[in-house]
Amino acid sequence: MSKNWSDFWRQKNEFDNSMGVNYNHFLERVKKYVVPHKESVVLDIGSGPGNLEDAWHDKVKEIHGVDISERYNAIGREKHKDHPNVFFHDLPANDYLNFSMLREKKFDLIIVMSVLQYYRNKEEVVRLLENIRLLTKPKAQILLCDLIVQHSMLKEVFQVFWEYFRAGKFFSALSLFFRLRFSTYYDYKKDNGFLMLSQEEWKKLLAQLHLKATFLDQPLTLQKSRKNILISMD
Ligand SMILES: C[S@@+](CC[C@H](N)C(=O)[O-])C[C@H]1O[C@@H](n2cnc3c(N)ncnc32)[C@H](O)[C@@H]1O
Repeated sequence: MSKNWSDFWRQKNEFDNSMGVNYNHFLERVKKYVVPHKESVVLDIGSGPGNLEDAWHDKVKEIHGVDISERYNAIGREKHKDHPNVFFHDLPANDYLNFSMLREKKFDLIIVMSVLQYYRNKEEVVRLLENIRLLTKPKAQILLCDLIVQHSMLKEVFQVFWEYFRAGKFFSALSLFFRLRFSTYYDYKKDNGFLMLSQEEWKKLLAQLHLKATFLDQPLTLQKSRKNILISMD
């Protein structure tokens, strides 16, 4: 039976050690658009091993990570066991749009970073937005990051290569490329693909949901053709 992305993320994988490497790039750039503060209650959907929690736990009132990977949640909990304002919640892999564990909470900021490409279809994205808007405080922000809006794998690989090269890390890029090309990630991608919605599709979908949203004017990640959307709640 062919395996889906949830299976990939729940097992040990080639991103375990490399995911944090480019996160600083994101953190540096995201500051221009969202500013966490001492009263912020933050939700991080698809939190992985807790990169955002590592960076922001001492800047905000509370930060909640949710992920389908119990393994990543266990890593996050271990790192943050002495931080009572950091929480990791297990999302059921076969019911990952069910955020009922958070129903008592309201958030100032919700971040979905590098996750939506693993959703199955546009309808799931609509349901995600419908569900998380119920979890927001007035004036909250929702940031959808690293969205694939065009089929451009080759371009993406080249861009990442170029950024590494400029940073004097050509051999790290080469090594990452070969590890990914001959990895299970590549096989899962062949079987499942990535969810890709064009900017036009995004605009339609957001208008349909009556959400006030803008595409950010600058990239947040090394894959510069990917887009980021900031939604501002009333
Ligand atoms: C590329 S990693 C990004 C992790 C983190 N956001 C970061 O940027 O460091 C993708 C993460 O999304 C999680 N994920 C994949 N599909 C998901 C889903 N449907 N719901 C929630 N999390 C999901 C994976 O387990 C993994 O932790």
